[in-house]
Amino acid sequence: EKGGYPHFMLKEIYEQPNTIFDCIRGRVVNNATEIKLSGVIDHSDRFINARRIIIVACGTSWHAALIGQRLLQDIARIPTSVEYASEFRYSNPVLTSDDIVIAISQSGETADTLAAIKLARENGAFVYGVCNVVGSSIARETDTGTYIHVGPEIGVASTKAFTGQVTVLAMLALAVAQLRGTISQEKLSEFSRSIEQLPSLIKETLKLNDAIEKLSSTYTYVRNFLYLGRGYNYPSALEGALKLKEISYIHAEGYPAAEMKHGPIALIDREMPTVVIAPSDELHEKIISNIQQVKARGGSVIAIVTRGDTTIPEIADHTLEIPPVPEALSPIIVSIPLQLLAYHIAVMKGCNVDMPRNLAKSVTVE
Ligand code: F6R
Repeated sequence: EKGGYPHFMLKEIYEQPNTIFDCIRGRVVNNATEIKLSGVIDHSDRFINARRIIIVACGTSWHAALIGQRLLQDIARIPTSVEYASEFRYSNPVLTSDDIVIAISQSGETADTLAAIKLARENGAFVYGVCNVVGSSIARETDTGTYIHVGPEIGVASTKAFTGQVTVLAMLALAVAQLRGTISQEKLSEFSRSIEQLPSLIKETLKLNDAIEKLSSTYTYVRNFLYLGRGYNYPSALEGALKLKEISYIHAEGYPAAEMKHGPIALIDREMPTVVIAPSDELHEKIISNIQQVKARGGSVIAIVTRGDTTIPEIADHTLEIPPVPEALSPIIVSIPLQLLAYHIAVMKGCNVDMPRNLAKSVTVE
């Protein structure tokens, strides 16, 4: 049932070209000139009149929510905030019928997320679900939504669900932008074509596996890891750190790269490696200087860069190249080497990657 892979997690990482293909099927339509999500079409008035969006989720789904926040703000121009479902439900939130609450949950059974949406509906908000498991409690309790359609996720550490969630959130932002007229047809088509290319870009990125397996042996006995990223890839840093913690039991922290100098830099020494997510984008120069700061303190750097970057490979200890991709979609591609890095380090440590200690696949208790 693992399809020849040693673990479900690796199988699910490798499935991603196909799962993302299934996720976008029938949704990027008309030669990539249009995004069609029935949940948006059927409730277009809600999206046209929305005053703000609040996204609620837990864990990895909460990281996807942070990326969704940027997408909805950038593309659909709707003020969007993100809350941990466990905090939101006890926060006495101010909600009106012009609010949209988006709940993201792979399992659709997470107790805190379920309680958060019940509260949101009681207070008159419109609730949109982004779930994987069809017919799950959250899927049933929401007004409408979009399934990510990535197939059953067995590995406890979420991989293909995360990339599916981000892909759905990108399509959602575009569908809403289309409705509200906040995007030009040209930009919409350009974006949609990039979404259509995701399966092949993921396939290409999976070729990093051997290089990552090799470099992982260097880091098996490390006790702490730092992950840095900016903009759309700040949540990627959080997610990369969570993956490593969950399955390898190595302490890891994700930070926005520029925050490093406000504290975490004190931790850096020879024993503490840093993963820097540094694709070529607007803030590339700044992230190069972060890498130099880590190197100057004796820390080693694993950098994720865009193919063709000539500067970072000169200073980083290990460089992992990803294909060029628009910044707003880059977390989907960046997550591939981060998943593989956590996986190989954990396997080399002898950890049970599919069933890490103390964790359950769905958290149905508070
Ligand atoms: C991390 C992980 C958990 C879940 C979280 C929410 O790899 O799997 O952090 O993301 O428990 O679960 P869902 O998405 O099912 O609500």
